[in-house]
Amino acid sequence: MHRTKTCGELRAGDVGETVRLCGWVESYRDHGKGLLFVDLRDRYGKTQIVFKVDEESSYSGDAHDLRKEDVIGVTGVVRDRGVDGEGKSLTNPKLATGEIEVVAQDLTVFNKSQPPPFEPNQAELPNEELRLKYRFLDLRRTKLQENMRIRHQLAKITRDYFNDLDFLEIETPMLGRSTPEGARDYLVPSRVHEGSFYALPQSPQIYKQILMVAGYDRYYQIARCFRDEDLRADRQPEFTQIDLEMAFVERDDIFRIIDGLVAAFVKEIQGKEMTTPLPRFSHREVMEVYGSDKPDLRYGMKLVDISGLVADSDFGVFKNTISGGGRVRGLNAKGAADKYSRKNIDELTAFVGDYGARGLAFFRVKEGALDSPIAKFLSAEKHAAIIEAMGAENGDLLFFVADKDKVSSPALAALRSRLGKELELFDPTEINAAWVIDFPLVMWNEDENRWDAEHHPFCSVVEEDIPKLTEDPAMVRAQSYDLIVNGYEAASGSIRIHDPAVQQTIFDLLNISPEQAESRFGFLLEALRYGAPPHGGIALGLDRWVMMFTGDDNIRDVIAFPKTQKASDLLSGAPAEVDDHQLRDLHIKLNLPPAPPK
Ligand code: AMO
Ligand code: AMP
Repeated sequence: MHRTKTCGELRAGDVGETVRLCGWVESYRDHGKGLLFVDLRDRYGKTQIVFKVDEESSYSGDAHDLRKEDVIGVTGVVRDRGVDGEGKSLTNPKLATGEIEVVAQDLTVFNKSQPPPFEPNQAELPNEELRLKYRFLDLRRTKLQENMRIRHQLAKITRDYFNDLDFLEIETPMLGRSTPEGARDYLVPSRVHEGSFYALPQSPQIYKQILMVAGYDRYYQIARCFRDEDLRADRQPEFTQIDLEMAFVERDDIFRIIDGLVAAFVKEIQGKEMTTPLPRFSHREVMEVYGSDKPDLRYGMKLVDISGLVADSDFGVFKNTISGGGRVRGLNAKGAADKYSRKNIDELTAFVGDYGARGLAFFRVKEGALDSPIAKFLSAEKHAAIIEAMGAENGDLLFFVADKDKVSSPALAALRSRLGKELELFDPTEINAAWVIDFPLVMWNEDENRWDAEHHPFCSVVEEDIPKLTEDPAMVRAQSYDLIVNGYEAASGSIRIHDPAVQQTIFDLLNISPEQAESRFGFLLEALRYGAPPHGGIALGLDRWVMMFTGDDNIRDVIAFPKTQKASDLLSGAPAEVDDHQLRDLHIKLNLPPAPPK
């Protein structure tokens, strides 16, 4: 037997027992006089091993040669750590196994490690590139092992939850047809069908709708999705969705199911009760109050429109913006007047500038009045009115952006989320989830001069808005919904169209011709003609849920083998060139642009 216990399991009650442990050498300390200490690590924890090395001990030489990350097996006797010369306990309270140590009797060295480029648990993390290249070392890090454990736990809770509710887990193809989620596809050339390509799924969207037509009224899948899009801290080219679809349901049925899942996550991982039903906000409301469709609701700092108060002021920026059809909106950073210097505010001005804002007006609230270089343009009555509108008091710091909503909403939303972090306005362990409903069905695409689907072209329309489809498409609400959690879009879904005639109306609106529709999703349209039940569903971004529970803000930290910002895998070296004969089999000839001059 290689091992009888793990490195995380021995306690005072095990003293006297003979055990065998296996693991990695995290550290070794040679105390001289033939005494050697090793911290042995596996994914369950760490245990201190004591080697008493003398000429006669069978492991004498090997124990002296142990180095970090060697893999060894040790047989020994568990003993109490006892007390030092002055009678102080040698227990290590920071370690779960800190009461005991194992006195080695025998040592097996399974694998000597080369000197590692970094130590998994070293105090300062080495740069991420190095960690991704040696991912097998990085994955030994306690924090990453904890992340993988939580990821596993979320998947398990998901499966248990849906299995109990009679859902079937059904796999859909990886090699399929392009799905319309709006990103670029990853394509896979077919060898058999010359010149034809599979697309890796951006989501199982079309297949799961077809499963509804096929009578599998409760489906779920933990599905891998692929999207060739610009990567960000919360986006990977290859990510995982908890995907589900249900037949004979309305929006509230989906909400009930997902509310229950979220409550189960929070209960099982954090031991906390989540109040359900989760709150619901309309898209219009969150855009007005937070400037974002995925605000972090762990704190307030709501946006306030003061246009009515300053339209007739002497401050040209405000006055002219308003007469030009814009608004002046802002927020109150409570108690922050002294926390932000002029230089800090200049930084914030540059920060909102990245979102297109032409400036950032600020006022410190002092002695019941506004204090700022531009305060003089506003009368004392205006000062008082602004202070009241902002719910402000002495010591607060007010910020305003004057612009069209298209600019001020994202700028103020970004400012709000930056201030929220800097002022530590929230408990980082809180999971705050809410529904955003009534999204617009379509968005005007100025570049292409057409309407684009806000979510995807299969969302059904809020009944009473159907007449507006032809008159005023921008005002049509979709029966779609997002679940927002701590400032992330954590899930997204909709009630689908199950009537081919309605589907055709939407395609017409989106300028998708019958030929295009037929060639891209003809197989779905065909299915809708053969007995399609009303149906709807949703997909949760599993990676993002893991991030929220592990407290990470980099999605790569919750994926075992992630891709870099440039979509490469530094461990394996993917993507990589392939052999000529592989290309020949696929009838592919590369037509690369000339290499840039050196
Ligand atoms: P959507 O495209 O909104 O909807 O995706 C659903 C959820 O998946 C997560 N997500 C991502 N996570 C990491 N990296 C990415 N690149 C990435 N893209 C999306 C988000 C998002 O909310 N078929 C529909 C779902 C449906 O209508 O049932 C869909 O895929 O958390
Ligand atoms: P200026 O008139 O450019 O000297 O700006 C005076 C102050 O108003 C500065 O603090 C600017 O940051 C701010 N400001 C300028 N344009 C805007 C705007 N569109 N919204 C909010 N503040 C602005």
